[in-house]
Order: sequence, then C-alpha cells, then structure tokens
Amino acid sequence: MKRLMVVTGGGDCPGLNAVIRAIVKRASQEKDWEVVGCIESFNGVLKEPTEVVILDNSKVSGILVQGGTILGTTNKGGPFAFPVKNANGTWTMVDISDQMIRKLQYMGIDAVINVGGDGSQRISKALFEKGLNIIGVPKTIDNDLSATDFTFGFQTAVQIATESVDKLVTTAASHNRIFILEVMGRDAGWIALNAAIAGGADVCIIPEIPYNIDRIKEKIESRYNKGRGFCIIVVAEGSKNDKGKKVGHASSEIGYRNFKLGGIGQVLKLELEEAGVEHDIRVSVLGHLQRGGTPTAYDRVLASEFGVKAFELAKAGDFGKMVAYKHPDIIAVTLEEALKEPHLVSPDSFLVQTAKGLGIEFGG
Ligand code: F6P
Repeated sequence: MKRLMVVTGGGDCPGLNAVIRAIVKRASQEKDWEVVGCIESFNGVLKEPTEVVILDNSKVSGILVQGGTILGTTNKGGPFAFPVKNANGTWTMVDISDQMIRKLQYMGIDAVINVGGDGSQRISKALFEKGLNIIGVPKTIDNDLSATDFTFGFQTAVQIATESVDKLVTTAASHNRIFILEVMGRDAGWIALNAAIAGGADVCIIPEIPYNIDRIKEKIESRYNKGRGFCIIVVAEGSKNDKGKKVGHASSEIGYRNFKLGGIGQVLKLELEEAGVEHDIRVSVLGHLQRGGTPTAYDRVLASEFGVKAFELAKAGDFGKMVAYKHPDIIAVTLEEALKEPHLVSPDSFLVQTAKGLGIEFGG
C-alpha cells in the first residue's frame, strides 16, 4: 500500500475542498493507494500528538461546494520556522524540517501534495531539495502565480467583488456619493481590475500602477454635474500612491511574516478630501468575505483538474513539480520555475487597455 498525504497551507481559498475531493476520488480508483490529510497545514505532523485523518470517499462526500478546507490551514510558522516558546516567554523560530521528514518516513508517507500559495510552494521546494517526494498545487484568490493562467479561488473572489460593486452603485447613485471599495490583492491587482471592469467602476487602483491623487480627483469631478452624480472606486489593498507607501501594519502574531495590509481605502478618502473633493465619500472594505463561501462552478472545475493531475504526478513518481493551467491543458512545471516571478498585471496588457477603453481611470 502506498500512502499519500494531503496538506492545505497558507490562507484559505474557495476550491480547496474540491482539490482534496478530487485527489481522494482519483486515488480510490487505484487498489494500492491510501490518502491521509494533515491537519492545519504541516502542524499535524510538526506538533505532538500527531493529527492526521484518513481521507476516503465517505470523508469527502459533499465537500465540493464547501468553502474553506476540511483539513484546516495556517499561514504562520511551518517546518522551516516553527515557533518554539522560550522559558522567558519569548519565541524562537526553529528549523525542524529534517525532524519532520524523518517523522513522515516513520509514518510510511510515500508522497505529499501541498496545496498552497507562493509561501507554501517555497516550503514545497525546500522540502523537495531535502529529498521529500512532494508535489505542489497552486491556490490563491490573488491569482499571482505566474506558472498558471489562473489559480482556483480567484474567479470566486472576482464574482464576490463584482456583486459588491453592483450593490454600491445603487446606493451611491441614490445619495450622489463616492464609494471606495477596498478589495484584496497584496502585490497583484487582478481582483480589483476584473471587478472594476465587470462592475462598471469609474476608477481602479492597483499595486502595479501607483496613483496620482489629482488624476483621480479629475475623474471624480467629471462624474458630477451641479452636485449630482456618483463615482465608484475599486482599490486593491496593496496599492500605493506615487509617493510609494503601502498601507497596513506589521503583525504581532507569532510566526506571521506578512505585512498586514489594510486601510488604503481610508487613506484614499483623506487624500481626496485634502485635495479638495467635497462630495460625500464612503469606504467599504470587503476583506475576508472574498475568501469565504462556496466556490463558483469555474473554480470547482479548475480545482478538480488540479487534484486529479496532482494524483497522476504522485502515481508516476514525478515529484518536485507544481500543477498549473496553461490553456487548454493542465501541465506540470518544476517548483523552481513556478516560483521564479509573480504574476502581476502588466500596465500594457489588453485587460488594462480594455479598462481604459471603457473610461476607467487608474490614476497613473
Ligand atoms: O494571499 C491572499 C490574501 O487574501 C491577500 O490578498 C491578503 O493580503 C492576505 O491573503 C491576507 O491573509 P490573512 O488575513 O489570512 O493573513
């Protein structure tokens, strides 16, 4: 019997359960494969007592439509920086990857599928270089991995953001207001850009194009006539003005390495008021509403394809790879290639050109 372990790591994302289900369903067609799931990313094997669950068809029944991950996840710590509490109450990050690999051998794990974003795939790559039989599956609502045309979860997030723009339009028009919708997007503005086009927004601010406040003010004024009018601005949380500062704060959570983004919407509101915009400005922050709930049909299909492909790679012993979507195929790329560069919005792309053609202002 061969034993495959599935891990979901990093921030959650709609479609994770569809990947788990696809791996289990495909594996169950083979006589000699057993699937186990590690609880809360790699913590299930890093911590004592060990927490893993047997994943069979009954365990994955009905999870296709569920958001989140039945295995749990974390974006703190990991095998290369595991938080250990010192006697004086401080924390030290310890590399216990060798210990973890030995434990996996002891547990009879023949292969690991790690479903996660760039941070998780960096862990996959480092574990592969230490000899672990590992395969990556890309996930992130931000769609910022360059090896794949799309990551699952992204379309769901765009759908949620677009529906939010639709809702803001009616209230903004009724009150002659400016609405700023802050959406996720750490380094890449894919969610903001797609939601702005699909929702018919007037301004779209993304991390790839630093904005000039006067250009945005000009666009706003063009949307008003004798005080009547409204304006919808979609801004990605990782955006910065032309003075170059991202908005957020360092996290005090143990093992959390990301800068905690958030607040660009409020900063933009103040900047517009300081620039002399007199219309009423309101800010809505979409936050984790974009990451929760049931995945769209598109994301369920993509996640299922990724799950089946990842199992095929495990069965073939083709490790150190990440599955990816390159239209029309699901392919395998090396983890090294997968992590080479982020997938950012190119200001010269046809999508940006489309937005500009529709009159959307980027501010830069
Ligand atoms: O990477 C996806 C993402 O949704 C980013 O857009 C966001 O900055 C981050 O995760 C927030 O993650 P969390 O709140 O889980 O720390």
